Amino acid sequence: MSSATPDHSVPPADTVLVVDFGAQYAQLIARRVREARVYSEIVPSTMPVEEMLAKNPRAIILSGGPSSVYAEGAPTVDRSLFESGVPVFGMCYGFQLMATTLGGTVDDNGAREYGRTPLTVSKTGSTLFEGTPAEQSVWMSHGDACSAAPEGFTVTASTDVVPVAAFENDEKKLYGVQYHPEVMHSTHGQQVLEHFLYRGAGIEPNWTTTNVVEEQVALIREQVGSKRAICGLSGGVDSAVAAALVQKAIGSQLTCVYVDHGLMRKGETEQVEKDFVAATGIQLKVVDAEERFLAALAGVSDPETKRKIIGREFIRVFEQAQAEIVAEAGASGEDVAFLVQGTLYPDVVESGGGTGTANIKSHHNVGGLPDDIEFELIEPLRKLFKDEVRMVGQELGLPEEIVQRQPFPGPGLGIRIVGEVTKERLDLLREADAIAREELTAAGLDRSIWQCPVVLLADVRSVGVQGDGRTYGHPIVLRPVSSEDAMTADWSRVPYEVLAKISTRITNEVDEVNRVVLDVTSKPPGTIEWE
Ligand code: XMP
Repeated sequence: MSSATPDHSVPPADTVLVVDFGAQYAQLIARRVREARVYSEIVPSTMPVEEMLAKNPRAIILSGGPSSVYAEGAPTVDRSLFESGVPVFGMCYGFQLMATTLGGTVDDNGAREYGRTPLTVSKTGSTLFEGTPAEQSVWMSHGDACSAAPEGFTVTASTDVVPVAAFENDEKKLYGVQYHPEVMHSTHGQQVLEHFLYRGAGIEPNWTTTNVVEEQVALIREQVGSKRAICGLSGGVDSAVAAALVQKAIGSQLTCVYVDHGLMRKGETEQVEKDFVAATGIQLKVVDAEERFLAALAGVSDPETKRKIIGREFIRVFEQAQAEIVAEAGASGEDVAFLVQGTLYPDVVESGGGTGTANIKSHHNVGGLPDDIEFELIEPLRKLFKDEVRMVGQELGLPEEIVQRQPFPGPGLGIRIVGEVTKERLDLLREADAIAREELTAAGLDRSIWQCPVVLLADVRSVGVQGDGRTYGHPIVLRPVSSEDAMTADWSRVPYEVLAKISTRITNEVDEVNRVVLDVTSKPPGTIEWE
């Protein structure tokens, strides 16, 4: 499979480059820059300075990273970056790199600081700290510490253990802080970052997702011309927004495919079939594949085997639908040339910066598909973060229920039934899940909860009493979690009254369920899903 659409889009004139020195800081910094309404892109620290400058950045931010500047093989940056005249802001590792490269002193003298740390700002009127308090809390994470700033720099802040915690050189437009302003625990971090962008680098805050919609619509029109495109819809935010954007650009030249595998939650298929279509006017092919999936899953309890079966069946059904669309388009099917995908910026960055080329060539073994059909990819969201995708969805007029959807796994309820997946069990879980979702929404908790898997322990029974009789039913597990990226998570402290209501309703309204339990495990050690 695979190949690529060249990335036609030209970065906005006011682009800030975030140089990635490792760990996960660069993505967060890039997001915060965009929150300041300035466009940002991440580049690897191995990129030569000339290449960075060739992108005409208005400013460059050097991120933190896990290394010590003195460690063997630690990433560096060429001195010419600081002499190019482009404003530079170094954070944590980036700050130390700026300090050592320009002749300051960084020692490994045991002056370590981790976590929330009080910062004393000595120059509250400086470019970065203007209007912020003399005492503020910042997030530190470093071993080495700067003890002397390079010549020409003014020291603007310190901590109890670090004499040089921030410095500035307005003449050369070079700025640095030892801490992580991008982290929420740094109380004035966003303000300091904005001061760098607006005051230090003189950038106007005018980047919005509206520009993205306009730009992408024009690009997609140019790319597709009079040909046709296909898009797989999953019911999730990313594919929905990607489809709506492409629909705005090329209208009826786009056909979407939605595979109903019977593992969706209550009302979700209808949401796509009715609300999404009503909002966008999209041409939709719904494939009812419930029986096929349930037959393939019969007798299977192992989670990984379930995932493999669901993945395999999904591809088969999708390709079949694709082949039908190609066949309907004409004998050669050649004019169906594009496949739309909802790839996001974090996926691009994590898979190596998105410089690669992916050319989707559909499988030859699928009936009806000409051998030489190749799909070029359309990935209109590949420069966006999730929250920006939601904004684009709102601008496109998509229903709130789709735009604000919490993450839901591709294998759906199939991996939320511990035990074999059957139609009866799915129906039961759908009811319990719908009640939990309804009550969490009614309590206004949707935004504070990252997601709340509702799990059926189908292989477990316990004794209960209901009415006048003894019951022997299944437990339902509630797994509300809070998270930023699903890599780590904590269990959400949902108010007792809300939990009580959910429990009462589920045990009253759902047959076969006589117990509701709450999962109070963080991730790690638990995962978010139970399977
Ligand atoms: P875990 O359970 O690994 O979940 O803590 C992390 C995030 O990934 C989702 N998830 C999946 N998504 N296919 C998906 O598309 C899967 O097989 C899958 N398993 C877990 C989960 O819902 C959570 O958001």
